[in-house]
Amino acid sequence: MKALYLTLLLAPAFSFSAEGPPRVSAQQFVDLQQGNTDFPGFRRAHAKGICVSGEFRANGQLADYSKASLFKTGATPFTGRLSIAGNNPTAPDLKAPVRSMALSFASSRTEQWRLAMNTPPVMAVADPHTFYQQIQAIQAGPAAVKQFFAAHPESSEFLTWAGQYQATGSFAAETYYSINAFYLVNADGKQQAVRWAMQPTVSVAATDLTAPDALQQEIAARIAADQVVFDWVFTLADATDDENNPTKAWPDSRQQIIAGQLVLTGTTPQLEGDCHAINFDPLVLPDGIKATADPILRARSAAYAESYRRRAKEQLQGALEGSNNE
Ligand code: HEM
Repeated sequence: MKALYLTLLLAPAFSFSAEGPPRVSAQQFVDLQQGNTDFPGFRRAHAKGICVSGEFRANGQLADYSKASLFKTGATPFTGRLSIAGNNPTAPDLKAPVRSMALSFASSRTEQWRLAMNTPPVMAVADPHTFYQQIQAIQAGPAAVKQFFAAHPESSEFLTWAGQYQATGSFAAETYYSINAFYLVNADGKQQAVRWAMQPTVSVAATDLTAPDALQQEIAARIAADQVVFDWVFTLADATDDENNPTKAWPDSRQQIIAGQLVLTGTTPQLEGDCHAINFDPLVLPDGIKATADPILRARSAAYAESYRRRAKEQLQGALEGSNNE
């Protein structure tokens, strides 16, 4: 929890830069991401989502690698959010190129973990400034995007993924990746670099969906009928893998460990649910998980705090105006 307060306090003044200038501030990032949209009270990215709840059932397989208590055999509840990328909370679900899962574990008052994952396994670029330029290109249109990728050979693995990705008919059938790497730290202080993925246990074709809220309706009905389960799979880096570069996947031959199963048992529309008020800052970490030096992680933490600050202020203003009108 201390980490969250520190993030919120430090973020306004924090400028992130991987290798010196040019620097991009969190404010500039969020200004760019929100663009000309005006959706007070909503996230500036991944604005459309649905709250989910459930528990993680650990099998104990990861407990020798991380002292985080949720990896000990047993169940830990979470509050989560399934979303689509973009700054518009009314966008049609099926048009979004990226789907996402965010989780918040509160194992104890002092042990909190926030995770936010996306469907691509890698990023197109490795540093915040180039990501800023990528968003600028996306906003400028297809010709600018083409030019951007031609100038950035590091995007090749992302483009290969984008070329073969088939969107499914359900949030329940996607694989969600950490993309950025973290360290597991065990009771002896030993560190192991990892990435993780939530792997689905069902497959659902996209064929029958048409409604603007198709994914939200589908997941709400699916979870009302039965629990939805993902395997939480960790991939262990070896000494030759670069844990600070999110554009490069690690070889398939790397050891993988299934830490247990994530079980989704409830949904709530986001405006009524607990997830709406959570900042899924990827640097809110429990003992036993440590951030790598990947500069994207710092940029994410600062930008999420800035987006959170804007939407929290607007929500408060909305509530005050509402009470003045009563
Ligand atoms: C420099 C890179 C990035 C920037 C600047 C950025 C920025 C943002 C911002 C401003 C938000 C809204 C936060 C809020 O209001 O709570 C957001 C949400 C989100 N981002 Fe990123 N992002 C970046 C990279 C990534 C990456 C690599 C991933 C996946 C691993 C990711 C996954 C998500 C998810 C899942 C959400 C929605 C979380 C929720 O449900 O609240 N982002 N991002």
